[in-house]
Amino acid sequence: MAGIYIHVPFCASKCSYCDFASFPKEFGKQEAYFACLYKEMRSRFAEYKDKTYETVYFGGGTPSFADPKFILGAMRLIRECVKLSDSAEITLEVNPGTIDRNKLRIYKQAGITRFSIGLQSSDDKLLKKIGRIHDREDFVKACDILKGYNLSADVMIGLFDQTKESVKDTIDCAINGGVKHISVYALTPEVGTPIYTDYLNGELPDSDEVADMYEYVVKYLDGLGFKRYEVSNFAIPGFESRHNLNYWRRGEYIGFGVGASSFMNGRRFTNVFTIDEYVHFLLNGKYAEASSDVIEGEDAKFEFVMLALRTSVGADVNKYRSAFGSDFFTDFADALKSQKAYLDISADSVKIKDEYLYVQNNIIVAFMK
Ligand SMILES: C[S@@+](CC[C@H](N)C(=O)[O-])C[C@H]1O[C@@H](n2cnc3c(N)ncnc32)[C@H](O)[C@@H]1O
Ligand code: SF4
Repeated sequence: MAGIYIHVPFCASKCSYCDFASFPKEFGKQEAYFACLYKEMRSRFAEYKDKTYETVYFGGGTPSFADPKFILGAMRLIRECVKLSDSAEITLEVNPGTIDRNKLRIYKQAGITRFSIGLQSSDDKLLKKIGRIHDREDFVKACDILKGYNLSADVMIGLFDQTKESVKDTIDCAINGGVKHISVYALTPEVGTPIYTDYLNGELPDSDEVADMYEYVVKYLDGLGFKRYEVSNFAIPGFESRHNLNYWRRGEYIGFGVGASSFMNGRRFTNVFTIDEYVHFLLNGKYAEASSDVIEGEDAKFEFVMLALRTSVGADVNKYRSAFGSDFFTDFADALKSQKAYLDISADSVKIKDEYLYVQNNIIVAFMK
């Protein structure tokens, strides 16, 4: 299977922790941006038209902030140019402050099946402090508008003064809104974002406190039937994100727009990070690739392991053998020995033990050659 990713780099304003490719002040460029995006889609799809696409993901930025006619246009183009499976999962990221029934009418026409809503917290004071444009009530309203769809919510931990009670309340709020999937992200204090100064000044919880909060969340969600299927992702069984599972299984995907990455026919390539550069390349009849690498040999094998060990099912050694024609246990004998205490090893799979999944990075580096 292959997935399609479409990046929408506009937001109403910038949250204090965010360094994603999103540019609130450049909203006036949306017309030009989507014209170029459509151009890129037509050209790339002509190259990769023989595949069947199973998922589409509109990410951002804030796709729900853009004029919905552009989302509809992108979906029309996809259906015109390539084969999109009848049962495709089509996700759109939503900021609760930017959704209404008129937009939903157009998303429905576009065939969106799933909405991923950025809640972050149900605490209005905290939302304000991190620069969110919405409050708890806006999330409740968004869920009401989107009722009946497959819903997911993003929740953050590691923020100012968060307590287990406040995180529990956030999860309860999401579940009361009808979500069947929750992504829980521990704050990464990115250099250059306003929150980084607060991090330097010791105003945020330390890593032990965040780890403790994470363990609490895992248990609480488990008790509510939300199973962890990847380090940051939890779902009622059957509601896992097919689009993201494809990434972790090292499946193919084609990305469009600013900063979007693709992995097609063994080549990984990523677009430039500014709207001006992106538009400039496309208007001049060129692709806007900033980097391109053919991933092969040891690099491809390590990538397989790195992605698979993020998931709760781990690495499927039979799939490894059919992908690379070699034996997982032989190729990674040293790492399997040194990391034995942290791994569940069976004849068919190797996975990180549940209690160590949060610190998977430390374990995964041992597999690097
Ligand atoms: C593109 S945004 C989702 C849609 C929309 N832009 C919004 O924020 O509501 C993706 C998610 O990444 C998470 N995120 C962004 N920056 C982060 C950071 N520095 N550390 C941890 N999580 C972050 C947030 O939970 C956010 O909802
Ligand atoms: S709304 Fe989302 S993408 Fe935009 S700045 Fe905030 S977290 Fe980043």
